[in-house]
Amino acid sequence: MENLREPQIQQKRSRRLILFPVPLQGHINPMLQLAEILYSRGFSITIIHTHFNSPTSSNYPYFTFEPISDGLSTTQASTSDIVALLTILNVNCVTPFRECLTRLLSENQEEPIACLICDGIFHFTQAVADSLKLPRIILRATSVASFLALHSFPLLLQKGYLPKQDSQLEEPVPELPPLKVKDIPVMATHDPKIMYQLVASISKEMKASSGIIWNSFEDLEQFALTAVRQEFPIPIFPIGPFHKYSPASSSSLLIQDPSCISWLDKQAPRSVIYVSFGSLAAMNETEFVETAWGLANSKRPFLWVVRPGSIYGSDWIEQLPHLFLENVSEKGHIVKWAPQKEVLAHPAVGGFWTHNGWNSTVESICEEVPMLCRPCFADQMVNARYVSHVWRIGMQLENGLERGEIERSIRRLMVEKDGEEMRERVIKLKEKVDLSLRKDGSSCKSLEGLVSFILSF
Ligand code: UDX
Repeated sequence: MENLREPQIQQKRSRRLILFPVPLQGHINPMLQLAEILYSRGFSITIIHTHFNSPTSSNYPYFTFEPISDGLSTTQASTSDIVALLTILNVNCVTPFRECLTRLLSENQEEPIACLICDGIFHFTQAVADSLKLPRIILRATSVASFLALHSFPLLLQKGYLPKQDSQLEEPVPELPPLKVKDIPVMATHDPKIMYQLVASISKEMKASSGIIWNSFEDLEQFALTAVRQEFPIPIFPIGPFHKYSPASSSSLLIQDPSCISWLDKQAPRSVIYVSFGSLAAMNETEFVETAWGLANSKRPFLWVVRPGSIYGSDWIEQLPHLFLENVSEKGHIVKWAPQKEVLAHPAVGGFWTHNGWNSTVESICEEVPMLCRPCFADQMVNARYVSHVWRIGMQLENGLERGEIERSIRRLMVEKDGEEMRERVIKLKEKVDLSLRKDGSSCKSLEGLVSFILSF
């Protein structure tokens, strides 16, 4: 893979880009990876960011960071109701963001600002960009298919699929194959109307934007990309997977435990199941204990990320039974946060039990690791359905967390023929990743298109 950053570092930079990530790990990572890709293409980079979950600027000495006030109270600065958090940020950030951008526009006259690149969730930025006559390009941090499902909420409400009824969960949604009603990407929040409103504003302001960048690629989401192009007649740039362009700096908000790698070094090739549910998902004590016994009973070595605060009612792993800890002292390694991309690339890892956040899904595909899927909310449900039923590179735990089903599923993934076939398919998919990133590949050409598009402003 060519290293895009090095050869061009010395060149004179003529245009500056302003990037604005949503302050959640799964959104910060792709935005900073995109920033590195565009920096390697000769653009100067300024990152505007909230105080809440601010990125580690010292990891990016070649970028400029501009903090703005997010106005969040101590209780609001929490990810327990993400819809509420994102709704408040879309209100609180308007004035500080406008003031910051106005100042940057007046300060950067020798190196003119070409455009704004915002996470699509920050829908308020379109009005700000319009008022300052600055083009706004969107980054969508999710899959194209899951976005289309979100964009279909008005139709799904009209047809009665939403709000979801327990009796309909297993029914197909013919308008969005292969999704079932249970896969519709809703998020728990105190008032569902706010969620529908947020989604509608995101879609509306995406349509008004100058273009959309996706961390996906043509061969992975061909049909969804065709549909999005019909629905959004603006330039679409599927340039992913971002993290494969060049080695990126770490944008992790938590400290990644290096013991994962030394522990993996002692395990047999493809023997380990890696377990992580990302930066937001949480579970209750019963689910936690079922997960633990399912892992222990599978008799496979496991590397398990238990993020502090991700088990309701406890700080970390206090609720694990002593008997479990005695049973697995040799077989298992539990950490608070892992260097996930390195873990997935390690030869000892043979399977990934994931919540199917889009970054985790793409990272798993890129390292040829088949998945056991346990989606929790939003786009994760759509991603998991595509993993199990479209790309067929994993399987789902369809009936919640129960130790017997977990044990059987881990065995199926790790040692049975089914799992082997999933691995063969993910290896084939990875070949398509490699092709898309070659000089004449679809993602690389799309990136060229994006660079020319930005330079045309
Ligand atoms: C959120 C949403 O939940 C997800 O559905 C959406 O697609 C993006 O935003 P999150 O739940 O954190 O993200 O999941 P994911 O998209 O997988 O992002 C997690 C990131 O954290 C990945 O890049 C992963 O490599 C990293 N990670 C995860 C670590 O560095 N260490 C870990 O231990 C676990």
